[in-house]
Amino acid sequence: MQEKSLLSLAYGAAFTGGNSNVAFTELDALTPRLQAADAWLRSNAAQGKEGFGWMDLPRRNVDNVQAMARWLATRESIVQVGIGGSALGNLMLHSALLPPCWNELPSSKRNAPRFFMADNVDSAENRAIWSLINPESTAIVVVSKSGSTAETAANFLFFWEKLRDTLGEAPARERVVVVTDKEKGILRPFVEEIGCKSLILPEDVGGRFSVLSCVGLLSAWALGIDCKELLQGANELDVLLGRTPSILENPAWILAGLNFLHMNKGRNINVLMPYADPLERFGEWFAQLWGESLGKGGKGSTPVRALGAVDQHSQIQLYTSGPDDKFYTILTVEQGKGDIAMPAAPERAFEKLSYLYGKSMDALRNFEAEATAAALHKVGRPVVSLSIPTLDPHRLGALIQFYEYVTAVTGYLMNINPFDQPGVEQGKNYTYGLMGRSGFESDAQEVRALSAKIGERIASF
Ligand code: PA5
Repeated sequence: MQEKSLLSLAYGAAFTGGNSNVAFTELDALTPRLQAADAWLRSNAAQGKEGFGWMDLPRRNVDNVQAMARWLATRESIVQVGIGGSALGNLMLHSALLPPCWNELPSSKRNAPRFFMADNVDSAENRAIWSLINPESTAIVVVSKSGSTAETAANFLFFWEKLRDTLGEAPARERVVVVTDKEKGILRPFVEEIGCKSLILPEDVGGRFSVLSCVGLLSAWALGIDCKELLQGANELDVLLGRTPSILENPAWILAGLNFLHMNKGRNINVLMPYADPLERFGEWFAQLWGESLGKGGKGSTPVRALGAVDQHSQIQLYTSGPDDKFYTILTVEQGKGDIAMPAAPERAFEKLSYLYGKSMDALRNFEAEATAAALHKVGRPVVSLSIPTLDPHRLGALIQFYEYVTAVTGYLMNINPFDQPGVEQGKNYTYGLMGRSGFESDAQEVRALSAKIGERIASF
């Protein structure tokens, strides 16, 4: 295995927190529990236990996904229908690794399909997507682990009917790929009924942990992302995680430990602030991973997605002078792509800008990241800086595996199950009940009673 630098965590400013400091010794003392967390993850993953399969994804055979992606790559457009863990990972991979404004690029510069995501239930958006594609040369990829999520079902019904009505049943069927569980839900019987293409979403992998399975890889590969490198980076990180005997040699254990300790001292808001536009979607993917995995039994930490330097002009006032209830991670990419050196301007009015002339935009953004971390540290807010050398498939794969592991280990420290989502299921069941789905009558009754209480007092203008 080729050893490359994957990421590094600077955490010297994580121990300042006003009256309720986290001490370095408290972090150090977590080593045995973190070793137990690692063993717990690995032994359950090896036994194929539900929820733990993400740990093994970097090593699984994905030849069938690559083969399907080769066909998908011949399409002019791909419309993916899915939500939450069946959408956010795709968007994250594409925006991190593809050029900006992907769909607007001329096809000669893309050499791969345009990509549309139908995640929310929004009639105008669905109609807009339909109006932008040529059904003849489009593939509809519907992704749902449970195979029954109402938003995905609604959007798919829309696109499937349009496709069938426009092209006829047989050609429409050839343009559909279903990614779902091998037996649960209504999508598998649909595949069997109409005989369309399909991939099996591994049973032991949960939705928000599924980006390195066929869920995320299929569209990424079709759009030209090197998924083998993505998986190799994730695997390399996983090997390193399994090798470290003490917390101080393991950035993932440090980050999980710090989050856990600060959470216990009342800092139960976790701000992730990447200083790189391509990582903005990484923040959205992380927010689902962190929020849904750890918000259980009255415990949890609220993920906040911020973007540097944009949110310096929106949130930093709150972060530096508001309540001390947050733990901050500043995420930077040391070396960007196609950096711009700022030109010197001849206008006298711009003389005061000469400090920028000839300097790099990447350097400016990274100095801003450094300045933000320093400003937070100055006022005693706990902050760590996580950096990756470059944003490529190998490093992104490692970063994904890193954050999945940090989340799972933090869940272990909190003594909760990071792999279920009872709150999400509750909302889904209430929706089924309200929409009149059979078998959900008691959910309908319950939600109506709760809504009546909400509506007991109303103020209007
Ligand atoms: O992580 C999860 O399990 C959920 O957030 C799901 O990703 C989301 O609800 C979509 O579910 P499904 O893929 O079953 O349609």
